[in-house]
Amino acid sequence: MRAMVLDQFGGPDVLRLGEIERPRPAPGNVVVQVAFAGVNPADWKVREGWLSSFLTYGFPFVLGFDAAGIVAEIGEGVSGLAVGDRVVVACNQGRGERGSYADYVASDVERVVKLPDHLSLRDAAALPTAGMTAWEAVFDVGGVASGQKVLVNGGAGGTGSYAIQLAKVAGAQVAATCGPHNLDYVRGLGADLAIDYRQGGVLDAVRAWAPDGVDLVIDTVGQGSLLDAVEMVKRGGLIVPITTLIANEPMADAARAEALGVKLAVASSTFPNQERQLKALVDTLARGVIRTPDIHVMPLEAAAQAHEQVAAGHVRGKILLDVDSALDR
Ligand SMILES: NC(=O)c1ccc[n+]([C@@H]2O[C@H](COP(=O)([O-])OP(=O)(O)OC[C@H]3O[C@@H](n4cnc5c(N)ncnc54)[C@H](OP(=O)(O)O)[C@@H]3O)[C@@H](O)[C@H]2O)c1
Repeated sequence: MRAMVLDQFGGPDVLRLGEIERPRPAPGNVVVQVAFAGVNPADWKVREGWLSSFLTYGFPFVLGFDAAGIVAEIGEGVSGLAVGDRVVVACNQGRGERGSYADYVASDVERVVKLPDHLSLRDAAALPTAGMTAWEAVFDVGGVASGQKVLVNGGAGGTGSYAIQLAKVAGAQVAATCGPHNLDYVRGLGADLAIDYRQGGVLDAVRAWAPDGVDLVIDTVGQGSLLDAVEMVKRGGLIVPITTLIANEPMADAARAEALGVKLAVASSTFPNQERQLKALVDTLARGVIRTPDIHVMPLEAAAQAHEQVAAGHVRGKILLDVDSALDR
């Protein structure tokens, strides 16, 4: 099968189109023919070797946590899915196995969710990592409740685009930061207030909107972009930074947070929650309660350029790789 493979860690140029063996389904696994593979910031971090102290990667390696496609083969002990089913997949790449930048990908059945007929494979492929992480931050860690005020730092990215919408689903009022070119985009996702962070004055804008402080800040950007978040949150409120996997990430001042009665709790997408979250996301999208972020589709062969764009940090919504979009009928 075709795959974008890595023979070593390194820059975008280590990605090459190659031919490798198609995966066979282990017991409890499903092999999916990939229509679209989702691109996430973690992909370039894995490519550069940032995660190699946690996982052992065998070369040639294939990147890609997310996919949507058609069930091609089913392993022993799998029930509830059949060959030919249209599915979304949060594949086994997070365990160090080969990922979704390929014609076929294997996944534990728990993270393969059948799609209703009216959902496109394109929309589904945008969901897994960004959606599950947003779900984790909004519901599992953030515990957002109706009537609360929530600030999403980085509202225009993949995670931010879902986080804004999920917080609205929970009945919260939502403010979101973004660049000037994305103000209308984040309002379109449901943000009650869009703040242009490039103008400065985010703290003043949040204080004007929430004079008593917000209940929750979800920080999808990190890198010191919102170090004064502690000054925006009410006593008893919470800051949820999403783990960026960047070394020496500057964090909010824990002593200052404690003095102000503000809690800090990081969020990261974790295997035990992913089955529940992915099923809930498919259901929420299928019911039209949330919509798909803006999507930019690039050819599989352009994975290196996709990585450069994602690493630059200003993609709106999601980038998908077209592996075989003709499957999306
Ligand atoms: N640990 C986990 O499980 C996990 C899971 C998912 C994601 N993550 C991490 O979370 C981060 C976000 O992921 P993602 O997929 O949402 O990334 P993304 O889609 O690539 O995010 C890009 C967005 O960030 C916005 N942005 C950049 N600088 C900003 C700033 N200073 N203030 C506000 N917005 C800013 C950009 O908007 P503008 O163009 O408007 O600036 C752009 O739309 C990444 O570091 C990723 O690795 C971790």
